[in-house]
Amino acid sequence: MNKPILIYPSLLAADFGHLADACRACADSGADGLHLDIMDGNFVPNISMGPEAVRMAARVAPDLYRHVHLMVLHPQDLLSAFIDAGSQTILIQIESRCDHRELLEAIRAAGCKAGLVVNPETPADAVIPLLDRCDEILVMTVHPGFGGQAFMPEVLPKITSLNVQMGERPLSVDGGISRDTIAVCATAGANAFIAGTALFREPDLAAGVAELRALAARGEGA
Ligand code: DX5
Ligand code: ZN
Repeated sequence: MNKPILIYPSLLAADFGHLADACRACADSGADGLHLDIMDGNFVPNISMGPEAVRMAARVAPDLYRHVHLMVLHPQDLLSAFIDAGSQTILIQIESRCDHRELLEAIRAAGCKAGLVVNPETPADAVIPLLDRCDEILVMTVHPGFGGQAFMPEVLPKITSLNVQMGERPLSVDGGISRDTIAVCATAGANAFIAGTALFREPDLAAGVAELRALAARGEGA
């Protein structure tokens, strides 16, 4: 049986002058949640938003699931702030400098879902020993740090090899996901899709979400 298709718009691609409106639009769009990209300027050469963005999303769109991606060097230093702000899934990078097992356990102990993110250059094997502490694996299909980058098809075999380990847990892809790339990711085994540019450039966010969902379903069936 195929896992449910999940579509998460990435807030990084929204108009920073109207983030609350973007959250409300996502809540009304049929999306399965909101992806919030947190960048510290160390792990990636960019700084994006902090816990207050999560708190804002929880306030303006309380029913919109908050899917938080920590692209930070030391997630252990920030974890409590993001838990307190209302994160519901917290994803840490396997390349970050922390005790991943301890942190995944702490995320779960706080009542959040825990996940690991793997960058394009990192092999799937890096996350296998920690799968028992993960509710989700997110496979980066671009180098993290910026929206609007080109999809990296060389990552597809990694999606396929990880999918066989996931059981019913979501396997997500993030970076360059659009109408042109989503189906091939679904065919490879992904069932959760983060899209920033491809969705926020659409005048009708709901139509964009519906189109990606339909294309992913077609890819699943391929
Ligand atoms: C990149 C972020 C992605 C990015 C996706 O570091 O993790 O979530 O915002 O944006 P697009 O869909 O524009 O590649
Ligand atoms: Zn992300």
